[in-house]
Amino acid sequence: MDRVDNPYAPGAGLRPPELAGRDADIQEFETILARAALARASQSMVLTGLRGVGKTVLLNDLAGRARRRDWVVAQVEARGDADTRGGSFRSMVARSLNQSLRQVTGRSTLRDRLRSALATFKSFSLSTDPSGALSLGIEIDAQRGRADTGSLDLDLSELAFDLAASVADIGVGVVILVDEMQDLEPDELAAVCTAVHETGQRSLPFYAIGAGLPSLPGLLAEARSYSERLFAFRPIGPLDREAAAIAVSRPAESHAAAWASSAIDVVVDASAGYPYFLQEFAKASWDYAPGPRIEEDDAYIGVRAGREKLDAGFFRSRWNRATPAERDYLRAMAGDGDGPSASGEVARRLGKASVQQVGPTRANLIHKGLLYAPEHGLIAYTVPGMAAFIARQID
Ligand SMILES: Nc1ncnc2c1ncn2[C@@H]1O[C@H](COP(=O)(O)OP(=O)(O)OP(=O)(O)O)[C@@H](O)[C@H]1O
Ligand SMILES: [Mg+2]
Repeated sequence: MDRVDNPYAPGAGLRPPELAGRDADIQEFETILARAALARASQSMVLTGLRGVGKTVLLNDLAGRARRRDWVVAQVEARGDADTRGGSFRSMVARSLNQSLRQVTGRSTLRDRLRSALATFKSFSLSTDPSGALSLGIEIDAQRGRADTGSLDLDLSELAFDLAASVADIGVGVVILVDEMQDLEPDELAAVCTAVHETGQRSLPFYAIGAGLPSLPGLLAEARSYSERLFAFRPIGPLDREAAAIAVSRPAESHAAAWASSAIDVVVDASAGYPYFLQEFAKASWDYAPGPRIEEDDAYIGVRAGREKLDAGFFRSRWNRATPAERDYLRAMAGDGDGPSASGEVARRLGKASVQQVGPTRANLIHKGLLYAPEHGLIAYTVPGMAAFIARQID
């Protein structure tokens, strides 16, 4: 079928043609927004899940919802460390907030209301942007003595407080969305918690929405012991059969094309409901199908082609990042399927007397983003299907 018309969107953070199966999560966020309009407080949210499960596109969708309701929205991606991610967490927040504040203050009613909070924003951003390049588009002097101590913990709280206080009584609020939140430094995680905690105590509408690997709740708990009460943790998993089938079939319908139901089953089964795999298999099936309808045989060919692409890219790129010793570790885990594995058992399989002997290898694999620790003593792959990929490898 016409490749130019192909609606499927395999990739990282690429908006799918149909955001299937996430209604409950979206509803939860809509409830936060609606309650804030009535001055009712809610917990913030943390979305956790494996690679390719759809955290980023969901987070983007939530950000769009807040923006459409005229909230002040900061959206940052914490991937990597301060050197690779283009600036400190403070500067990323400042840049993103700057953009949102420019939009929001375009409306004169809000401009007057936000004036003193903008002065706080200016002093928050001056320490990361001494030249004052972040410009709000209006003349404003920094508010000395507010959000400018240099301590992220104090400054972010003061900024959150002033921004939220200035918009609260018109029924909107402030939300900061952090993707790859597990990559924030402990003090940065702590600062986000403090800001949510401080504003929450005063019933001010400031929320943090995080997305990250399943290790994130544990990291938050280490940063601030009360974090488990600040956030509603929502695991983002593979789509159930019904949602997965919708993710495959609906985009075709809106292109005046169709899938045989047996073809949908082939793609859904092969993907185990993982959104990224669904997109790859559906896209390849479309490309290979003569049309006008995608038949079961087309889907088998699509799945095979999609798997080859995943092996050569998604899985292979991760495998290539591992050193020989790290590959041995990954291989030793593969006997447990997608896991998790007990770290002690993995060490034993590698012929080591103690977990400490393979501790550095395990730590490097976590640092490279290939593994995460679901809980103490356990270890798991961050990508679904890694064990099966390893089983297919000869080197
Ligand atoms: N609910 C959904 N329905 C259909 N397709 C989806 C859905 N969610 C995500 N996708 C598709 O899955 C792929 C991965 O999505 P996304 O990049 O958001 O995953 P992620 O969890 O952020 O992955 P990573 O951990 O690698 O950042 C994209 O191609 C996206 O279009
Ligand atoms: Mg992502």
